[in-house]
Formats: sequence, structure tokens, C-alpha cells
Amino acid sequence: MSAKIIDGKAFAATVREKVAKHVAQLKTQHGITPGLAVVLVGEDPASQVYVRNKGKQTAEAGMNSYEHKLDVTTSQEELLALIDKLNNDADVHGILVQLPLPDQIDSDTVINAIDPAKDVDGFHISNVGLLGTGQKSMVPCTPLGCLMMLRDQLGSLSGLDAVVVGRSNIVGKPMAQLLLGDSCTVTIAHSRTKDLPAVVGRADIVVAAVGRPRMVKGDWIKPGATVIDVGINRIDAPERGEGKTRLVGDVDYDSAVEVAGAITPVPGGVGPMTIACLLANTVTACCRANGIAEPEGLTA
Ligand code: GUN
Repeated sequence: MSAKIIDGKAFAATVREKVAKHVAQLKTQHGITPGLAVVLVGEDPASQVYVRNKGKQTAEAGMNSYEHKLDVTTSQEELLALIDKLNNDADVHGILVQLPLPDQIDSDTVINAIDPAKDVDGFHISNVGLLGTGQKSMVPCTPLGCLMMLRDQLGSLSGLDAVVVGRSNIVGKPMAQLLLGDSCTVTIAHSRTKDLPAVVGRADIVVAAVGRPRMVKGDWIKPGATVIDVGINRIDAPERGEGKTRLVGDVDYDSAVEVAGAITPVPGGVGPMTIACLLANTVTACCRANGIAEPEGLTA
């Protein structure tokens, strides 16, 4: 039996539609336009693409997009001064500083300088602590997108065995907290886990976010499990011609699709959900800042 393919592109479009509807309501009923500031330091090509897409989708949802592109030689003090300005700008409801940052800047210092209420990445230590203690917080976008897809597929996640492969602050750890919040029995596995195939094999839900191309094999997966592949790895693809590359996930899709109950493809699975959830977080932050009821279904 071949797995159901989870269409992240279509699902992200429904999230963006919901966001746009709430943005329109905020404008007509409250005279408020949510605003997202994105800060890019340097000219990393992948980061430039992400930032361009974020700006485009923010504007398409009817929100204000403020882009701050700084030179690669920008000092930490200069960046902190900009963040202070954005923290105090009432038109800015969300702030995202694109990572990675150049070596002269300490990422933790910068992230923790963002007003936690505007931290639409959910990386500020206050938001990490709030999420870990089950309190209302800003939730990191990629894990939030994964959670939305899992709820959409499975309904209640209560009591399910979930394995998160990967322990990053951006995906693995917050993903585990969100699954715990939905009453899953959660295991965080990683590249050093002993007998990873056996650990993965117990799971009803597998979230792969380890950054290793095609690491999770189909014969590790419990038949019928739901598999969410967060990996985006560019590999050589000589079969497509000399010098060609292609994107693959952290899951060996061709073998996993034969065993799983449902699976996200790469590309077109988790990827599109990340920016959709960034827009959702911006609307949530805007509502909270103005004491307006938050839209349902756009937060954890
Ligand atoms: N770089 C890669 N992914 C992300 C993300 O989710 N947020 C930020 N700020 N930078 C990133």
C-alpha cells in the first residue's frame, strides 16, 4: 500500500487564506494593519531567497512588510540599535532576524534582544520557556506547521507514540514540546541515538529534522505511521545531467512511501508551511498586542 501524500503546498495556501481573512477583518473592524519586519544581514543567497519570499507573501496576505537589508560588515551594536527601534515601533507587530548571522554577531544576544511579544520566530528564551511550561507563547514556525499538518491528518494526537529525529533549537526541541502539549508520548532521537531504526519503528508519528539526506529508511517505519519530513538537502543528481542537483528530505521517500500511512514530500511538504505559519504568528502577535481575540486554528 502506498502512503497518502500530504500536500503541504495546498495546506499552506489554506493557512494563508485564513491569515488574509483575519488581516482584512483587523483592517475593517479595528483599523489595524499587521506589520512584519524582516532583517537580513549580508548576502547569503539562500537567505536572500527566503527573505524575498517572506516579503512577497506578507504583502499578498494584506500585511505591511518592512525589509531591512544590512551590510555583511554590520556590527552587533548596529543590529541591536535597529532591533530596539523595531521593538518600539507600534506599526511593527513581528520581527524576524534571518539566520545565520555573520561571525561578528552573537545570534543568542540578538534573538534575546527582540521583544518576546514580537518574536514571530519563537526563538527568544522567554518564548522557549513559555512553550516548555505549556503557557501561551510565540511558537517556532516550522514545528507549528508540522503540528497543524499532523492535527489535520490524524485529528487528536493524544496517546500516540511520536519520535522526533533531530534536537535543534529551531525544530527538534520545540516540535517535541508541541507534541507533548498534544499528549503524545515523545522520544527525541538524533544522530547518536543507539539503534535508531528500532526507536523510529515504535512511532505512530515520525518527524525527521536531522539534516542528513535520506537518513530515515522505509524499513525503519511502522506500517501506517505518519511521516513528516522537515529535511531540505541539496544533493548531486547526475541522472538529470552533468552538474545538476535536486532536493531530498531526511527520509528516504521512495522506500518510506511504501510503508507509511501518510507522508510529506520534499519539496512541497513542510517547506511551504513555514512562511504560512510566520504570517499566522504575525497576525497572532498583532491581535495580542491590541487586546483582540486571536484567530482560531492559527496557533498551537
Ligand atoms: N534561517 C533558516 N530558517 C530560519 C527561520 O526559521 N528563522 C530565521 N530567523 N532564520 C532562519
